Amino acid sequence: MKPIYQFLVTFCALFVSIDSAIPMYSRINGKIHCNQKYKGKVHNNKENNLVVPFGEKGISSYRDDADLSVPDLITKNGYPVEIHHVVTKDGYILELHRIPHGRSGDPGGKKPVVFLQHGFLASSADWIMNTPEKSLAYQLADKNYDVFLGNARGNTYSRNHTTLSPKDVRFWNFSYHEMAIYDVPAVIDHILTTTGEQKLFYIGHSMGTVMFWVTMSHFPEYNAKIRLMSALAPVAYVTHIKSPIRLLAPFATEAELVLKFFGDHEFLPHRGFINIFRKIVCQREPVGEAICENVVFLIAGFDKAELNETMLPVILGHTPAGASTHTLIHFAQGINSAQFRPFDYGKEENLKRYGQEEPPPYELAKVSAPIALFWADNDWLAAKIDVAALASQLQNVVLNYQVPFKKFTHLDFIFAIDSDKYVYNNVLETMEKY
Ligand SMILES: *[C@@H]1O[C@H](CO)[C@@H](O)[C@H](O)[C@H]1NC(C)=O
Ligand SMILES: *[C@@H]1O[C@H](CO)[C@@H](O)[C@H](O)[C@H]1NC(C)=O
Ligand SMILES: *[C@@H]1O[C@H](CO)[C@@H](O)[C@H](O)[C@H]1NC(C)=O
Repeated sequence: MKPIYQFLVTFCALFVSIDSAIPMYSRINGKIHCNQKYKGKVHNNKENNLVVPFGEKGISSYRDDADLSVPDLITKNGYPVEIHHVVTKDGYILELHRIPHGRSGDPGGKKPVVFLQHGFLASSADWIMNTPEKSLAYQLADKNYDVFLGNARGNTYSRNHTTLSPKDVRFWNFSYHEMAIYDVPAVIDHILTTTGEQKLFYIGHSMGTVMFWVTMSHFPEYNAKIRLMSALAPVAYVTHIKSPIRLLAPFATEAELVLKFFGDHEFLPHRGFINIFRKIVCQREPVGEAICENVVFLIAGFDKAELNETMLPVILGHTPAGASTHTLIHFAQGINSAQFRPFDYGKEENLKRYGQEEPPPYELAKVSAPIALFWADNDWLAAKIDVAALASQLQNVVLNYQVPFKKFTHLDFIFAIDSDKYVYNNVLETMEKY
């Protein structure tokens, strides 16, 4: 049996043993299928096909916030908000959320501009869901920054295209590579044109940092538009990640087969997938059902000490916010290859695209903007050793900061009760120097 079939059988068997279902796998017209029963169990959110996988929505008075859009939440918290649309060169219509000034009104005059880019399966909501004292976007607005929150293609707010519908498989034909090549430059240019500024601050979380490295190595001239990049839970190399997405790594080089298996459009976690992950993640310590049912926590881990349970309904109401299967596979490929490089389409297609059998690594040495790295020991996705490998290749690391709390996780950079104390205060102080 070819190794890839072996993997698929193993994977299907995992589904089966956990779900105590019957069939293993079958070949239909040469394609591999697990039992159809597990294919894309999707909960549709009204007309726009958002995935709200299996989560109960609310357990407290914060239930309402779970259903409010990001602009409505910002307004509710007493901040001004603007909605901007940016069209990329390949036709995606991205929605940006702007908080032009703080709660105490607009003091006028020139303001430094900051662009915040969320991570995988997330949205602009990441930066505004905590209390105003602990949400980075509100803190920046109150400190007189002009704040722009990005939304990567395919998420809740960026599901429009000039010619394609999200129902079309071609809409989902992208990974973080395309976000970096098209979305980031379009958004940076829109912000600079809108504000009349020459440069902006960039703050990225997780995939939001990946996008930055790729943009800056691909278009080195964009480095000149960056005052400082603050990288929260920086990701590039994923060789040592502890997340259960390691399970996908063996499949990832057979991209075509995997795409057939998972569907080559939106990443819609199915029941079996969730069950495997929760078995790995949630048996360590007892946590609420809601966490063990949410693919974002299952991929990124959680930290009970720093998780504010009151916020949970809001978090779960806004996450996951949508992503392409290609992106997940692209990350999984990096686990196998131990490299940071574009999507691996297989030898034949790679030859056509890249002129060589393996994708050429991204040139991190071309990232010359000043970089502040913020990372943590207990981060399943940005392992210490991988962050060190990244740091050693960047030209201009001005701060390499380890969060002084052992249990701090990947999502704590966004949701932690002490996000201000452990991370944001330092982020804000460092920005003042640039
Ligand atoms: C995006 O699509 C939605 C739903 O089709 C529509 O209501 C909205 O106006 C569109 N927005 C833009 C900016 O095209
Ligand atoms: C996906 O995009 C690439 C170009 O990046 C193109 O070559 C390929 O045919 C596309 N696939 C589909 C299914 O649209
Ligand atoms: C937890 O979240 C709620 C709702 O946002 C907030 O009122 C409360 O102050 C938070 N608790 C802590 C310890 O941050």
